Amino acid sequence: MPRLGAALLLCLLVLSLPEPPAAESPLQLPAPQNVTIYSYNYQNLLRWAPVKVDNGSVLYTVQYSTIAYDWEEINCTNITKTECNFTHPEIKSFWTITLRVRAELGQVKSDWVETNKFFADQNTTIGPPVIVNVDSTPDSLFLNFSPNVKEDNLQYLVRYWEKSTNERHETEWTKNTRIGLLNLKQLTVYCFQIRAKLRLLNDNIGPFSKTDCHKTATSDATRAGFVAIIFVGATVTVVILAIVCFLFIQKFHQVIKYWFQPPFQIPLHIEEYLKDPEMPVLEELQNNCAEEDPWDSLSVVSNAEGSQALLNTNVQSDSRSIESEKT
Ligand SMILES: *[C@@H]1O[C@H](CO)[C@@H](O)[C@H](O)[C@H]1NC(C)=O
Ligand SMILES: *[C@@H]1O[C@H](CO)[C@@H](O)[C@H](O)[C@H]1NC(C)=O
Ligand SMILES: *[C@@H]1O[C@H](CO)[C@@H](O)[C@H](O)[C@H]1NC(C)=O
Ligand SMILES: *[C@@H]1O[C@H](CO)[C@@H](O)[C@H](O)[C@H]1NC(C)=O
Ligand SMILES: *[C@@H]1O[C@H](CO)[C@@H](O)[C@H](O)[C@H]1NC(C)=O
Ligand SMILES: *[C@@H]1O[C@H](CO)[C@@H](O)[C@H](O)[C@H]1NC(C)=O
Repeated sequence: MPRLGAALLLCLLVLSLPEPPAAESPLQLPAPQNVTIYSYNYQNLLRWAPVKVDNGSVLYTVQYSTIAYDWEEINCTNITKTECNFTHPEIKSFWTITLRVRAELGQVKSDWVETNKFFADQNTTIGPPVIVNVDSTPDSLFLNFSPNVKEDNLQYLVRYWEKSTNERHETEWTKNTRIGLLNLKQLTVYCFQIRAKLRLLNDNIGPFSKTDCHKTATSDATRAGFVAIIFVGATVTVVILAIVCFLFIQKFHQVIKYWFQPPFQIPLHIEEYLKDPEMPVLEELQNNCAEEDPWDSLSVVSNAEGSQALLNTNVQSDSRSIESEKT
């Protein structure tokens, strides 16, 4: 029993002892994880997960090597960001490079982490070209686009389909930056996607662009047809209207006559005359006629006579004709 007691006491003693102090500065820093190269149209970025430490800010250093050279620095030394932009015009064609990254905290350094071999032509993602404009004709769409990579060996392909169906068609690969989608239906919406590839031993084929849709134009024949239909329609309408008017006039002849020509009203003086035949209405009428005699205009003609010869002859002939009318 006392032995057991002693053991228990020892146990308690051990438990109550202060824990051994944690290492002030670890001899080894964990290496960066998930070291990945992202490359799009030869824009190259190396990224990694940050190395977490309780105290202090970790710095990173990236180096590269080609087959021919030793490890070298690339402006990503003692950086705090967890990415390194290693875009460089020389890191292209025929270059195979390897990158490596390590973390540093004061004097403590992590192990290097190496990437896979990076062969830009093969490993970069060739982005789809940008559609500049689309020319539409009744039976085709012509896509004009511009590449966003400077490369001689690019080729393009378009996948297209009638929007209302899902039957996909693909053009041939071509170097042209204008592709025609032919034998389409007029006035129909077509959708398309475009992709580029880099011609190599193993082609580097880029992803398709976002879907874009366009409508084909109307054909001249159809337009002429529309015009003809509109013309015929207008003509028929006019004819029908004319017939309806005619029938209407026939049927409501009397009414219409009444509207346009109110019943004839005998002038007051004639009416009076009819009532009282002795009133000198006839004379009055004759006098009125005399007053309205067109001789007035003749006097104007004689005034003009003196001034303009050319006018004279005209006016004279006028006056003659007036005279002849008068006789
Ligand atoms: C590394 O990537 C994997 C998968 O994407 C993820 O589960 C993991 O958390 C990442 N590691 C770090 C340290 O971020
Ligand atoms: C790290 O911790 C020490 C003491 O534990 C402190 O003196 C120092 O300021 C800390 N450094 C940072 C960068 O926080
Ligand atoms: C590093 O950066 C300096 C200045 O920002 C620049 O002149 C130099 O060309 C760069 N070196 C590399 C290898 O990118
Ligand atoms: C990076 O940091 C180390 C020590 O932390 C230093 O010796 C070295 O000169 C630094 N390099 C640059 C390019 O700042
Ligand atoms: C990387 O650098 C290139 C050339 O210096 C620049 O054009 C590009 O915008 C940079 N990319 C990022 C993500 O910073
Ligand atoms: C580049 O592509 C090759 C072949 O597809 C592949 O084996 C390699 O891992 C890629 N490199 C990188 C850094 O992803």
